[in-house]
Amino acid sequence: MQVVQRAEQLAPAASQRVLVPTMGALHAGHLSLVRKATEAAGEEGVVVVSVFVNPTQFNDPADLERYPRTLEADVEALREVGADVVFAPPVEEVYPDGPLTEVPLPPVATEPKLEDAHRPGHFAGVCQVVARLFELVRPAKAVFGEKDWQQLRVVEAMSERDGLGVEIVAGPTVRERDGLAMSSRNTHLSSEGRRRAPALFAALREASLAKLAGAGPDEAEGAMRRVLGEAGVEIDYAAVRDARTLVRDASTDWRGSPMRSILAGRIDGVRLLDNAPW
Ligand code: PAF
Repeated sequence: MQVVQRAEQLAPAASQRVLVPTMGALHAGHLSLVRKATEAAGEEGVVVVSVFVNPTQFNDPADLERYPRTLEADVEALREVGADVVFAPPVEEVYPDGPLTEVPLPPVATEPKLEDAHRPGHFAGVCQVVARLFELVRPAKAVFGEKDWQQLRVVEAMSERDGLGVEIVAGPTVRERDGLAMSSRNTHLSSEGRRRAPALFAALREASLAKLAGAGPDEAEGAMRRVLGEAGVEIDYAAVRDARTLVRDASTDWRGSPMRSILAGRIDGVRLLDNAPW
């Protein structure tokens, strides 16, 4: 496995590259994305995992400061899972002239009032870094986790709109035994907070059960809020939306179109998010 800091050190692209963009602090969820990338790469392809804590997507400087940085352990885990290349660029490789380029945001980044309402500027940073990583690595495919559903949809929409020629592959969410979605942020939870955290998954399940019992999206949202509230989760949003646009209004055919329950909230100040098909 090659570990490089500069794009020019990447071996010439004789075969197609599959990129897994990460910010490091890798857990089993990331490693499952790398396995997905290996499948997508086939015999000939090369799996490149980028490890870059992108400063432009953090709207809270304290959040950026405390984001775990564990490159040595990440490299070891990636070696074991069979990645071909780790691309861990310094900030000046990604933003040689400073983070100036603004990538216009697709509607799915701004219209749903989900992440966008709570983390202003976040998707501008994500689109900027993803577009730049695509430029540096030139992958044929890139793998993103379903856990960050809105991010996945934003990247798909940007890639389609800009004809970036990168096929976006989605990797399913990996969960702890009690249902908590794996996330680098879980390590910030206190043991008491960790005990309450499965409430996010329980809320999604409750929304599905409500649907099975004949409820509509409004009632399902109510059910999610109740489960989260009982566990003392400070709710940012708990919504049932069109799975593609992430909007729901009077014209949404929620009986006929794929829908998604999606939520975010804080436990002890640690922000967690999750989603599931509805
Ligand atoms: O999901 C993440 O870890 C980040 O948002 C990403 C896609 C690596 C961009 O920095």
